[in-house]
Amino acid sequence: MIPIIRKQNMPTGAIFSLLLALTIHQTLTTDVSPTVVAPETSSPPASPATPGPPERGNYNVTNSTDTLCLLARMGLQLNISFTSSSHGKTVQEVLNLHPNLIKVSGSCTPDFAALKLTEDNITLTFSFSLNSTSNKYHLSGLELSAALPDMAKRLVVSNTTLNYMVGTLGHSYMCQKEKTLSVTQDFSLNTFQLQVQPFGVNGDFGAAEECELDEDDMLIPIIVGAALAVLVLIVILAYLIGRNRSHAGYQTI
Ligand SMILES: *[C@@H]1O[C@H](CO)[C@@H](O)[C@H](O)[C@H]1NC(C)=O
Ligand SMILES: *[C@@H]1O[C@H](CO)[C@@H](O)[C@H](O)[C@H]1NC(C)=O
Ligand SMILES: *[C@@H]1O[C@H](CO)[C@@H](O)[C@H](O)[C@H]1NC(C)=O
Ligand SMILES: *[C@@H]1O[C@H](CO)[C@@H](O)[C@H](O)[C@H]1NC(C)=O
Ligand SMILES: *[C@@H]1O[C@H](CO)[C@@H](O)[C@H](O)[C@H]1NC(C)=O
Ligand SMILES: *[C@@H]1O[C@H](CO)[C@@H](O)[C@H](O)[C@H]1NC(C)=O
Repeated sequence: MIPIIRKQNMPTGAIFSLLLALTIHQTLTTDVSPTVVAPETSSPPASPATPGPPERGNYNVTNSTDTLCLLARMGLQLNISFTSSSHGKTVQEVLNLHPNLIKVSGSCTPDFAALKLTEDNITLTFSFSLNSTSNKYHLSGLELSAALPDMAKRLVVSNTTLNYMVGTLGHSYMCQKEKTLSVTQDFSLNTFQLQVQPFGVNGDFGAAEECELDEDDMLIPIIVGAALAVLVLIVILAYLIGRNRSHAGYQTI
């Protein structure tokens, strides 16, 4: 079981904290294994070419002494626009990467780590930077190079000033929900069931820091828990008041 560190305080009053602990605990301890690929019922009925959610892959990088230095598991979906040679105009295409077809490479230095995924004529490179003053890391760059059969010319896009997946050294960054990372006008990356740790890897993922999207999931159990807590309080109060009344009644007789 992966311990989870809360990034933000719950927006709930201190009174309810104890009463809600059980509810929250149950949510936090739900399975984070790769087996939960829930069918996305909320996905819009977009263009007919839109594929389903991508399969989740495991991508690890080792350093020159064969020690694991970057861990990642995620499902990846590219959303690109390019000039189609058959249509002669700009088209939008959404395509999934396939873990079993991907070749993984990369590199690690103390403050920079790269993960390079290659599938056929598509190469996607993640660059992570560590700020050794603040001990925070983030995804600072993404580069895509793709040559699809219908492309008039190879698409090469990159952005080196990104600020995604912000995490603390020694911890992993986790985002179970689908997240869209906008890279350039022509390219955005959709990630699914993501967990990465680009620095401070000690054999396995460190405690997970969850993205805000996942934290929104906590809201429903919190509201239900708060409602239940209020109900229980009312019942207890009613019982105590009732008991005192009847007790007082006996006393006067
Ligand atoms: C590889 O990683 C291990 C563990 O982090 C570290 O002790 C070792 O010095 C690294 N090797 C190189 C060549 O960076
Ligand atoms: C792909 O990108 C386009 C333009 O940014 C957007 O309208 C569309 O919803 C995206 N599709 C997916 C599946 O992310
Ligand atoms: C690293 O973090 C420190 C403290 O938060 C900040 O002042 C500094 O600008 C950061 N350095 C870089 C290169 O982002
Ligand atoms: C890869 O690119 C080459 C040359 O552009 C092309 O002939 C081939 O069909 C492409 N392969 C795939 C799987 O797109
Ligand atoms: C790179 O990403 C940043 C932050 O998301 C954005 O402001 C900038 O416009 C992007 N650069 C390009 C070339 O798209
Ligand atoms: C990557 O590392 C994780 C954690 O050690 C491990 O569970 C997983 O099997 C590894 N995957 C690959 C493809 O090596």
